[in-house]
Amino acid sequence: MTSISVGERLGLDVEDEREIRSHLEDLYAGVFTPEAIVAHQDEWVGRSAAEWALNVVKPLISDGGRILDVGCGYGSFVLLARQAGYDAYGFDLSKFEVSIAQKRAGRLFPTLDAQSVFRTMDATRFHGHGNGYDAITLWNVLEHVPNHRRLLRDCAALLNPGGRIFLVCPNYFAFRMEAHYHVPWSPWLWFSRKWAREHLIAHSKDPRFFEESIYYTTNWSVLFCLWRLKLHVFNIDRTLPLLPPVLKTSHVREHFRIVCQHLNPLSPSTVLMVEKPKE
Ligand SMILES: C[S@@+](CC[C@H](N)C(=O)[O-])C[C@H]1O[C@@H](n2cnc3c(N)ncnc32)[C@H](O)[C@@H]1O
Repeated sequence: MTSISVGERLGLDVEDEREIRSHLEDLYAGVFTPEAIVAHQDEWVGRSAAEWALNVVKPLISDGGRILDVGCGYGSFVLLARQAGYDAYGFDLSKFEVSIAQKRAGRLFPTLDAQSVFRTMDATRFHGHGNGYDAITLWNVLEHVPNHRRLLRDCAALLNPGGRIFLVCPNYFAFRMEAHYHVPWSPWLWFSRKWAREHLIAHSKDPRFFEESIYYTTNWSVLFCLWRLKLHVFNIDRTLPLLPPVLKTSHVREHFRIVCQHLNPLSPSTVLMVEKPKE
């Protein structure tokens, strides 16, 4: 028996947690270690990653703002955003994850239509999920979508003028630990998926998840795409403009470390806030 309440678990009950554990064990067989699955469930299905994300969004999106979370997983971010007073929605490709998100929404917000808040949908063709969003969030999802440039374009089209996209994704042209397999990753693996596959096998990992669910994102592929869409790009808390209208030399001097972190092609992750111009 657990002493943690369903509210504290953001609407998850013990049976959901059991089902989620077994789902994660199947999904990430040969990818995550058993310890990594437990940590993943605590951080990503629980509330800590979503709390970080909400703290990023809150200062920049006013109360009651309309938010769409693309690839919402088990729904933690949308649920916390709703508790904070936002009109938040989410969709995900995984029926299982959406069904858990809907159950959580039903328990936390009994008067809400959970089916309209969380939907099963593919981000590669998600036209028709309404528009007029003040914010669209892409938390660790761009790297799972075959054409992240098209997804960014579609998201930009759904935003209100002045609306914002918040995004986090790994840079597959970096020296880092690979975000899912937790094995060392190097920029040259970006040149050939065959080398990457062999690299994973050499680390005793099953490359199937890589082959089926990981598409290379790099910080420059994302930046170029946003630039071509004529969106204004900032670091995640909007303290520093990174791409047009201007990256002033005074900014570079003042924020040298942050500029290097974001514009360095070898930087480990892409963590950005993007604004759609008002006119
Ligand atoms: C790493 S998880 C991130 C989940 C959530 N955003 C979070 O931060 O906890 C990636 C999510 O993207 C979803 N996903 C992958 N491909 C997708 C697609 N084409 N359309 C919608 N969701 C997708 C997966 O089902 C998964 O829930």
